[in-house]
Amino acid sequence: MEVIICPDADEVGRVAAAKVARVCADEERPVLGLATGSSPLAIYAHLAAKVEAGELDLSAVDAFALDEYVGLDRNHPESYASVIARTVTEPLRMDPARVHVPDGAAEDVEAAAEAYERAISEAGGVSVQILGIGTNGHIGFNEPTSSFSSRTRIKTLAERTRLDNQRFFSSLEEVPTHCLTQGLGTIMDARHVLLVAQGAAKADAVAATVEGPVSAVCPASILQHHRRATVVLDEAAASGLRLRGYYQHVYAHKPGWQRFA
Ligand code: F6R
Repeated sequence: MEVIICPDADEVGRVAAAKVARVCADEERPVLGLATGSSPLAIYAHLAAKVEAGELDLSAVDAFALDEYVGLDRNHPESYASVIARTVTEPLRMDPARVHVPDGAAEDVEAAAEAYERAISEAGGVSVQILGIGTNGHIGFNEPTSSFSSRTRIKTLAERTRLDNQRFFSSLEEVPTHCLTQGLGTIMDARHVLLVAQGAAKADAVAATVEGPVSAVCPASILQHHRRATVVLDEAAASGLRLRGYYQHVYAHKPGWQRFA
């Protein structure tokens, strides 16, 4: 894993956005993998600035979100369809018809999950998957003990996750109990994975992901098996890493051609 430690959360967004832009420039038909939540917002803000400056054009790029709540109206302001439209599609001037979110309102959720997997592979697979991490080590909504080979499916949210996400709703009761999420196997198929984390609340999950044993108890630890995994952290999120100094040394001595920011 490539671990990059940044002085603050905004720099995390800048460096990660540069990585996304680099992958988009390198691929003929790039496909973006999107995450929701607070972690990727700085990436989207930096990407939007590049679009605004005419340095990046995402208008013909396909994109797939990681997950969606089940049992929440698509038009609810906190449905991931609404969040992605508001934080990604509009500011990055993407084509709404090309930006996909799993259909958590489908009557046949299993068929919707299969259709989502098919759509990703028909688009050519994800070039770069943006990921946040839950305080319990989840990526997407693959909660602890999710199968490493899982595909898009319905999952029950951990109570920890519902409590963490309560801030987006007016009460805990309002937070859905289920979601449709890409599986760990789906995420691992992306050609690059890019995990960002900010803040001390993520330090334990980050340490388990990067330096712990690969174990389904910390689902994100499967990323140790990915060929091109980049983890971009602020100092607080990196504070539990034993090899902090080593990662800083490696990044400072990276050959120019390997740098993306
Ligand atoms: C969101 C997602 C989740 C979040 C994670 C962290 O699409 O898949 O894994 O990335 O829960 O959320 P934040 O960034 O809000 O701390």
